[in-house]
Amino acid sequence: MAEVIDLSQVGALTGKSITREPRDGNAPCRIVGVPSGMMNAIGLANPGLVGFTTIHAPRIGSLGCPYIASVAGHSIDDYVFVASALGCRSDIGLIELNVSCPNTSTGRNFGDDPAALRSLLRAVRSTLTNASMIVKLAPNAPDVSALAAVAVEEGACALTLCNTLPSPAIHPASGLPILAQGSGGLSGPVVHELAVRVVGEVYRTVAKSSGTPIIGLGGVMRASDAAEFILAGATAVGMGTALFADPRSPLRVIEGLRKWVASQGCSHVSELTGAMHT
Ligand SMILES: Cc1cc2nc3c(=O)[nH]c(=O)nc-3n(C[C@H](O)[C@H](O)[C@H](O)COP(=O)(O)O)c2cc1C
Repeated sequence: MAEVIDLSQVGALTGKSITREPRDGNAPCRIVGVPSGMMNAIGLANPGLVGFTTIHAPRIGSLGCPYIASVAGHSIDDYVFVASALGCRSDIGLIELNVSCPNTSTGRNFGDDPAALRSLLRAVRSTLTNASMIVKLAPNAPDVSALAAVAVEEGACALTLCNTLPSPAIHPASGLPILAQGSGGLSGPVVHELAVRVVGEVYRTVAKSSGTPIIGLGGVMRASDAAEFILAGATAVGMGTALFADPRSPLRVIEGLRKWVASQGCSHVSELTGAMHT
């Protein structure tokens, strides 16, 4: 990304989720385009904590923007191990806990169950000395407001809403799943309005009263998509799938947001956070 856009223009860069051990991820086919989006079952392929620390981490300082380290795991021990190792680095101030990846056999447990999430966050938070904790939830969690409330009670400095939406992709000729894994996570414009709904709900029920920032994420391709997230209650906006189509698209979105903020008679985007609810 740093080779194609000036990262000092963006708020932060979130990396691929890092696990304790290296992961090859799922077998192909593990990514496919669908109308209005894409579907992936990458399965958290990543070099693991040691690989990340030796290969990627040395470049964090020269990115030009803060780096949000995403952490995933199968157990509390896994999360604590990785988060505590990354959280004591001086160049990582934000740890995002991915408790909502649909592409591992057990990755969703913490993101579905408020009690399990509480235990996880309590354990991770107690080991974080320098870094703050962000919690990333799924759009289809049984009670996303309850999970968000637990995250805030356990010290999350922000919430990321949302991860991908678990879905199948079926090949009509064979009747078989297109993705080798069987199903994957849907992303892109097709999930946008759903993610906006989740942001609005969590803002109303949890984030507004607690003053917790929400990073709205899901299908942002244009500035108007980002504006919807802001109006629904997001303080910041993320982009994932759009980067596959055009890695420079964040700069266009930022410019469009500036114009939109001015057109609303505001001097800062924060004046419009949650404006839909008033
Ligand atoms: C190919 C691909 C890989 C992803 N890998 C991760 C990951 O490692 N950790 C994570 O928290 N989310 C991951 N996501 C989910 C995105 O961060 C984002 O939550 C989701 O795609 C919705 O945003 P978008 O529509 O802008 O892509 C991935 C998404 C895609 C498309």
